[in-house]
Amino acid sequence: MSPTETLARTLDLTSIRAQFPALAQTVNGHPAVFFDGPGGTQVPQRVIDAISDYLRRDNANSGGNYATSRRTDVVIEDARAAMADFFHCDADEVVFGQNMTALTFAFSRALGRDLEPGDEILVTRLDHDANVSPWLTMAEDRGVTVRWAEIHDEDCTLDMDDLASKINAKTKLVAVGYASNAVGTINPIKKIVQLAHKAGALAYVDAVHYTPHGLIDVADLDCDFLVCSTYKFFGPHMGVLFGKREHLKRLRPYKVRPLTETIPFRWEWGTLNHECIAGITACVEYIAEIGRRARDVSSRRAAIEGAYEAIHQHERALVDRAMAGLRQIPGLKIYGITDPARFDERCSTLAIRIEGHTPRELATKLGERGFFAWDGNYYAINLTEHLGVEKSGGFLRIGLVHYNTLEEVDRLVAAMREIVSA
Ligand SMILES: Cc1ncc(COP(=O)(O)O)c(C=O)c1O
Repeated sequence: MSPTETLARTLDLTSIRAQFPALAQTVNGHPAVFFDGPGGTQVPQRVIDAISDYLRRDNANSGGNYATSRRTDVVIEDARAAMADFFHCDADEVVFGQNMTALTFAFSRALGRDLEPGDEILVTRLDHDANVSPWLTMAEDRGVTVRWAEIHDEDCTLDMDDLASKINAKTKLVAVGYASNAVGTINPIKKIVQLAHKAGALAYVDAVHYTPHGLIDVADLDCDFLVCSTYKFFGPHMGVLFGKREHLKRLRPYKVRPLTETIPFRWEWGTLNHECIAGITACVEYIAEIGRRARDVSSRRAAIEGAYEAIHQHERALVDRAMAGLRQIPGLKIYGITDPARFDERCSTLAIRIEGHTPRELATKLGERGFFAWDGNYYAINLTEHLGVEKSGGFLRIGLVHYNTLEEVDRLVAAMREIVSA
């Protein structure tokens, strides 16, 4: 059976792509190819409708005693329930915020209130700076020591021995990414959470890059906090945090006095982005619908699990094809895991450099041909500096998500060949 036939039984790409109006665009007569998912994915029509329906019909502040305000409360409650299914937690453990970075700065400040000089925090070289700078800033204010878990340069995986050796009785928090937004490495989060807990530390997981690719199960991971951004998995521009109930109750947020002390609301300051929250329910439903088509399911959670199985299978076919094609291009280097036997340890995000061409030049030439791909460090600056590629433009990033096709990958490989040989 060809990869395309396998796909037909799991993901109906024609129906999936038809739901994303943006995918129909053209650039200079070329069909637009969205390989910029790691910077933000496109949204299906149902998300656009949910946002505009909210603004048209329900627009109000929350907590009032009239129709639109009551409907707004229901919109928020529905989205919280949807994200609880998405994370696999209870609804009162779901906190909405502006984005992952803002949520992490806020939680770092609250967590820092309990820390004192001599305490330690562990961050990693692989992480996006949004899971590093908030901790560095808080550590500076509190006199806390920051330690860094290093990587194996050859495959851009975390050096787990190094990481384990830097967790000790003084460690209060381990901040780690689920997957690298630069090179696609998936970290052994469950293991890292166990190491943190064994030492009495909390585990704060940045799942922003992982969420379009893999199932989140905070109950299984047992992490203390996990944060993601819905705009990276087919939803609106917002951040959502899971926090264990005990922590959301115990920690003290910086908040205004009239705001309730009830969780999760005490962590949500000011008026939320209600229209985007309406879009979040639609985005989770979009994912669940993929699962309902792939298998018989009894609950939304089971549907989400089914969706990620189908998504994983398709993305795996995309990675296989992209790696095989790109590696034939002279002078091209792919960073991170390149051994197909280990592809389960990576997601479908490829960091590339080609001798004699800057990432900016490649991104620009691809852009003229209709391919949307990022170049630079995408804030994974700790990694690009460590690998010595920061000063020469970082990487070209090809981000493949489930709405991408094998044909798009083939066209990319052909375009890269053309650019390189010109
Ligand atoms: C891995 C990772 N973490 C954190 C962030 C920051 O997310 P946000 O834009 O929601 O603050 C990003 C954004 O690209 C990311 O890729």
